[in-house]
Amino acid sequence: MERLAIDGGTPVRTRPFPGVLEPGGRTFGEQEREAVLAVLDSAVLNATCGGPWLDDLESAMAQLHGVPHAVACSSGTAALHLAVAAVDPEPGDEIITTPLTDFGTVIAILAQNAVPVFADVDPATGNLTVESVRACLSPRTRAIVVVHLFGAAAPVRELRALADERGIVLIEDCAQAYLARPPGGDRPVGGYGHAGCFSLQQYKHVTSGDGGLVITSDAGLAERMRLFADKAWPREDGRTHLFLAMNYRMTNLTAAVAGVQLRRLPGVVRQRRQLAARLCDAVAGLEGVRMPANPHDHAWWVVPLILPGGGNQRWAQALTAEGVTAHAGWLKMPVYRYPALAQRRTYGRSGFPLTSPPARQEWHYPPGLCPEAERLIEHTLVMLPWNENYTTSDVDDIAAAVRKVHAAMPSVR
Ligand SMILES: Cc1ncc(COP(=O)(O)O)c(C=O)c1O
Repeated sequence: MERLAIDGGTPVRTRPFPGVLEPGGRTFGEQEREAVLAVLDSAVLNATCGGPWLDDLESAMAQLHGVPHAVACSSGTAALHLAVAAVDPEPGDEIITTPLTDFGTVIAILAQNAVPVFADVDPATGNLTVESVRACLSPRTRAIVVVHLFGAAAPVRELRALADERGIVLIEDCAQAYLARPPGGDRPVGGYGHAGCFSLQQYKHVTSGDGGLVITSDAGLAERMRLFADKAWPREDGRTHLFLAMNYRMTNLTAAVAGVQLRRLPGVVRQRRQLAARLCDAVAGLEGVRMPANPHDHAWWVVPLILPGGGNQRWAQALTAEGVTAHAGWLKMPVYRYPALAQRRTYGRSGFPLTSPPARQEWHYPPGLCPEAERLIEHTLVMLPWNENYTTSDVDDIAAAVRKVHAAMPSVR
């Protein structure tokens, strides 16, 4: 058996892979450059003051998803906040979400004084399950925020049916899952819930540095989200503000870059899928290593390897030593263990809104709250960065490293 690099053997790979923080790992070209210059030459950088860029971006996003409305804003977190604010929960109302996500998902809930209630996840995907969400429902539940983790569609059709049955709202967090499709779905994620939220942050499939988008088929929600992103200022009525809201506006510079990037998105996702299918084939049949089952519906933000037998920390170290950067667990802890929630650092020392009243109970988030999520982080999940600019030989090196580590670590089979 070949000696692992972590034990002094020769690494599979010594050259770096293309990454999202360098030109070779992004898809910027002449059109982005021209778009930025056109905005500068117009002298109008604020989108409320004129220019076609924001409207163009929103129309393209809506069209791509086959929905009537898209609202642009300043980040993925802002996009989620728009959606939660449009639900208009009472303080202490509950919103069910996942503990395996970026904290932006939770910020949106807390910022509207709602209580995040964490449902456990499917050990095979890290996504919410309908059963675990159902178990968290209460008379105070106003919405579900489901995350399509790593690019795999969550069971969003079933969750929409559950939301409709209970008369609550389903918000999709699609920040990692542009153009992913759920099993049996005829359109991309984002259009199954009442609102679908996207991020244009640097690490996403397409980027304008920061930025966010929400899609919806509901004209009322769209109008409320549009107002919320602009201080609830209906500009046609002069200077008045209809409710407490934010300035989450996207600038013309951002919209111009995002508009071009959005045109590249289908190609980016297609390329990621083709490359991922090659990796899936190359590691198929490795006992004790699971890859997503549906490479052509997955958006492949990253590649999750699931090791049901555990050992993710050592696997990640071994792969990284082979020259294939790998992260054990993605997060260090489930989001409910962050000080912001575990120590209730919300509004001063009040612990609001996790206190009763306004909540129906005192909310605490102890370790062990969501055992499957914790097991993924601590034992079974290894995450590999992925990029549309990988070559087939890059993919073959990644596959070779996975096979080599697998051969040397029979304990995890
Ligand atoms: C699942 C998920 N939700 C929300 C966000 C927040 O997006 P942003 O960083 O643009 O605020 C991110 C990304 O950072 C994310 O991955």
